[in-house]
Amino acid sequence: MNFPELKINEEKCIKCGMCVKDCIVHCLEQNEETKIPQFVKDKEYNCIKCQHCLAICPTGALSIWGKNPDDSLNLNEININSDEILDLIKSRRSVRMYKPENLDNERMNKLKNMLKYTPTGVNFHNLHFSFVDDIEVMDKIRNMTNTRAVKLLSNSLVQKMFPHFRGMADAIQNGQDVIYRGAPHMVVVSVPLNAPCRREDPIIALSYFDMYAQSMVGTVWCGFAYYFFKIFPELCDYVEIPDGYRVSYVMLFGQPDVKYSRSTQPEEQNIKSVPLKNIVRPMSVFDKIKRVITNLI
Ligand SMILES: Cc1cc2nc3c(=O)[nH]c(=O)nc-3n(C[C@H](O)[C@H](O)[C@H](O)COP(=O)(O)O)c2cc1C
Repeated sequence: MNFPELKINEEKCIKCGMCVKDCIVHCLEQNEETKIPQFVKDKEYNCIKCQHCLAICPTGALSIWGKNPDDSLNLNEININSDEILDLIKSRRSVRMYKPENLDNERMNKLKNMLKYTPTGVNFHNLHFSFVDDIEVMDKIRNMTNTRAVKLLSNSLVQKMFPHFRGMADAIQNGQDVIYRGAPHMVVVSVPLNAPCRREDPIIALSYFDMYAQSMVGTVWCGFAYYFFKIFPELCDYVEIPDGYRVSYVMLFGQPDVKYSRSTQPEEQNIKSVPLKNIVRPMSVFDKIKRVITNLI
């Protein structure tokens, strides 16, 4: 559906006005007489399709963009266990040993379908996910990348500029899959250049994917593949990244061939509370410029 359509079941509507209050773009109002919600005149096209109005309605009386509230997950009937979620976060590991086999369709579809629930700036929702869901396709990409990587990394100028990559070409030539870690699958996320949050949206999407995937398979963020996708356009073309989209990151996944028995014990993060006694200190122009430049680069 491409036009904003708002339908109110007047028998169910309790006229609480919560849909109006929660609309971030103020395109809803309560009818002055009936108190039934309606679009503010000429504001319906401000709607960013976030469906907060549908989600917040306590009686399921509101349908927007053709969505039936009865098809939503009923949040009054589910109980999310925060301890289990923390256990999942603690148990997540970068998996670098995989069974050389395709995942079953059921799990693959669950992984794909989850991606529409990840948040995007201004509710943009226009990311592109290239799924390699067949190990034979993955093997082709592995070969394409390895051939190009070895050629590039054998160049003496490249070796001088990036000395720490020297061992990679040798390892690939010795048959080690140092880029793709033997993974049978990957997802490459890309973003249109006009996305309001083009740096954040793809990484948020893959972070959600990572956590959900780790509840049933293994994953690893793949910086190496990401860099090779950035510099070898044939790879982007092969996985059909649309024109005008920028490759944002790569995640490998598949059935792990390894089992971790315990969590790691990471060092403490730098976490500090901002005290009420803090004052806004006078800053020199130099310090201000330094701060802004640091923030912007
Ligand atoms: C942005 C990012 C890029 C990464 N790239 C790679 C990679 O190219 N190859 C790899 O084996 N691991 C990669 N990793 C995995 C990290 O090396 C891994 O997180 C680290 O070794 C700690 O292990 P853990 O994730 O199991 O806690 C990457 C992780 C992140 C967050």
